[in-house]
Amino acid sequence: MKRKHLLTTKDLQPAEVEEILQNARSFKEVSEREIKKVPTLRGKTIINLFLEDSTRTRTSFEIAGKRLSADVINISKGGSSVSKGETLLDTAKTLEAMNPSILVVRAHESGFPLKLSENLKCNVINAGDGSHEHPTQALLDLFTLVEKRGSVKGMKVSIVGDIAHSRVARSNLYLLKTMGAEVRLVGPASLMPSEVESYGTEVFYNMMEGIADADAIMMLRVQKERGGLSSFPSNREYARFYGLDKNKLAKCRKDVLILHPGPVNRGIELSPDVADGKNSLILDQVSNGVAVRMAILYLMGE
Ligand code: CP
Repeated sequence: MKRKHLLTTKDLQPAEVEEILQNARSFKEVSEREIKKVPTLRGKTIINLFLEDSTRTRTSFEIAGKRLSADVINISKGGSSVSKGETLLDTAKTLEAMNPSILVVRAHESGFPLKLSENLKCNVINAGDGSHEHPTQALLDLFTLVEKRGSVKGMKVSIVGDIAHSRVARSNLYLLKTMGAEVRLVGPASLMPSEVESYGTEVFYNMMEGIADADAIMMLRVQKERGGLSSFPSNREYARFYGLDKNKLAKCRKDVLILHPGPVNRGIELSPDVADGKNSLILDQVSNGVAVRMAILYLMGE
């Protein structure tokens, strides 16, 4: 993979994606061994700069780097000199002066990883920027679907919920289409981006019409921190029309795969019995996140 930065899934080529998936399969096997470590990135330094909260992405990037034997440093907004007024770009330049190989960055501001890639010499990985993109989440979602079905070519995938504020939706839409899936966007008009027509994909405002024959349903978190809650009258109303519960699930394909990037708003976009039920791949997604991020760090850090 000849790539200096991973900022978006829009420019990923199928061969590059296959290379990531193939390496992730090998690293998944490493993660299942008693000694879960390989010397691949010994002597390299990875800085995880998390300027917005995270459990899954931050932890899995840390574990991934450590399993590859890199030196991994974690920086969060609280406890850094950002709280003293240092700009985010000055903070990133300061960290770069310590000569890391890779800077993994999560930011509230859409486009901040791109800005870093234009201003820094080290490799930059986007670990989620505002409402823009979350490319490593889409790659682990793809890995999870391919693991279950062998390929996503021709697969009907419905992405449901707060599309407007979701970086996960955008990265998955681009990547799944590149890999040959048929993607539908499903949600209330108030949570559809104004430019949705330009995505060149089917849009459904009625949930059952959008999910009835889907092979996979990707439920999205309502992005409370980005104003998602103000786009509908109440949580109960949202759950009734756009939440996935056992009654709606009973009208779907029996073997439908249910994904959610987490964290789940239980009782809003997913009822607990569906989140924890036999169709749910939520914890597989989390496990696969480590293997996929190992593959990305390996391919970019070598
Ligand atoms: N899916 C995801 O990005 O979760 P975190 O915010 O916990 O990293």
